[in-house]
Amino acid sequence: MSTIRIAVVGLGMGKLHVAGYLKHPGAEVVAVADLDESRFAAIREMVPGIRTYVDYREMLRVEKPALVSVAVPNSLHEEISCAALESGADVLCEKPMSVDLPSALRMRDKAETTGRKLYINFSQRFGAFGRTARSLVDAGELGPIYHAYCQWTRRDGIPRFGGWFGRKEMSGGGPLIDLGVHRLDFVFWLMGDAKPLTVSAVTHDRLGTALGRKHNKPFDVEDLATGLIRTDSGASILFDISWTGFQVKKEQQVLRLLGEKGSIEGSPGPHGDYTLYFCHNLAGNAYNSTPVDPTPEASSFETLVDCLLTGDPFPATTEDGIRLQAVLDALYESARVGREIEVDALQAHARG
Ligand SMILES: NC(=O)c1ccc[n+]([C@@H]2O[C@H](COP(=O)([O-])OP(=O)(O)OC[C@H]3O[C@@H](n4cnc5c(N)ncnc54)[C@H](O)[C@@H]3O)[C@@H](O)[C@H]2O)c1
Repeated sequence: MSTIRIAVVGLGMGKLHVAGYLKHPGAEVVAVADLDESRFAAIREMVPGIRTYVDYREMLRVEKPALVSVAVPNSLHEEISCAALESGADVLCEKPMSVDLPSALRMRDKAETTGRKLYINFSQRFGAFGRTARSLVDAGELGPIYHAYCQWTRRDGIPRFGGWFGRKEMSGGGPLIDLGVHRLDFVFWLMGDAKPLTVSAVTHDRLGTALGRKHNKPFDVEDLATGLIRTDSGASILFDISWTGFQVKKEQQVLRLLGEKGSIEGSPGPHGDYTLYFCHNLAGNAYNSTPVDPTPEASSFETLVDCLLTGDPFPATTEDGIRLQAVLDALYESARVGREIEVDALQAHARG
């Protein structure tokens, strides 16, 4: 069996990339890079003999991997993905694609000029919830989807408080770009070709900013984002996403998709704590809910190796990343100026 030579840059989430690839017999994880050498020990235990680098450019030069996973702070996605593409590798870049649309567009340009592939790790599409929801949609069980609601809120869940997640120049934003990106991608993916037309958002930063002041740590992003997206098919997407807020549950996740024939409602995880109910048979005011038992299948990492070996298309593309980045930029702009924003107008501006 032929194998794919893989390297991973960034070993926080990147450790899960290594673990995911290792499950596929066609994946050969040859090297990793991280500025923080203390992260190498765990990887060496997982992959005895793996080569480790502090300088990712040296790693690209020496190892010449066919695929590079990029799992570093968001503000470095562009630099490291572009360097990997230039080295001749295909790239799986973590979500969000980058910190803003102009950066994401430069990444797409680099993929085009180098002729390499740039994929985005919208990992939640590949979980059991995602695949089950998608199979229901593909089987036509929902009919046209006209409304989606997504909530992902935490009581006290600012990731690694004081670090890069709370610094806009490194993250691009708070929970909207960190957690919301998963949910909104999921909804657009299930809605098929839905094109976002206009967005309206409000963000808050009271609790995060107060915590930052109290502990003398940087925090200049939102801690809560809420809003509405309208699509060209007339569909509406309502969302409520936060890292912190006074709420009963530690973490609350709801995804509801309403179609003309049926609906999906559940709690998508991400840690396997999902439920998924497929509602149909609208009889009077009562829904007949059928619980669906989603069976776990291959992760994004195994799926990508499969696709690279077989030539099949990987279902989380550069264009998916660009569409999401355009929506995120528009949402942040809407929150900034306090009114509804047209996504196309903002995109035209970003393209210069
Ligand atoms: N798909 C998912 O579900 C998921 C989950 C968590 C994080 N992420 C994404 O993964 C990315 C990383 O997040 P994280 O939680 O692992 O952050 P993290 O801070 O835990 O890890 C980032 C790592 O990158 C390293 N790094 C920074 N600059 C580097 C450089 N120039 N060269 C090499 N290494 C460098 C750091 O030393 C650190 O070890 C983010 O884009 C985040 O949004 C995705």
